[in-house]
Amino acid sequence: TYVIAQPCVDVKDKACIDECPVDCIYEGRRSLYIHPDECVDCGACEPVCPVEAIFYEDDVPGEWRDYYKANAEFFDDLGSPGGAGPLGLIVRDHPFVAGRPGTEA
Ligand code: F3S
Ligand code: F3S
Repeated sequence: TYVIAQPCVDVKDKACIDECPVDCIYEGRRSLYIHPDECVDCGACEPVCPVEAIFYEDDVPGEWRDYYKANAEFFDDLGSPGGAGPLGLIVRDHPFVAGRPGTEA
């Protein structure tokens, strides 16, 4: 799967959403989250993020490794909705993301 990390927090550019062929990038309060079971690893989202927040799971920089878990656990009580569009904004964050400082401009 691909993972959204720190640079997205409080930025939420959302260019990634338009690129995803399976609509598996979900919007939380401060960040977006990629559904690990729905992502088909097409990689289309990664180059369009203007702040380079998206990484293939094996390439997440060391200091941001916890975002792998945060992206996955965000869906613990959502299951696999099969598409982000109908859900729209999900007004919460994974606790790890909720506690992060905002991204410096
Ligand atoms: Fe976030 Fe980048 Fe997408 S800032 S919303 S991961 S385009
Ligand atoms: Fe979608 Fe990016 Fe995965 S475009 S399928 S979230 S690699």
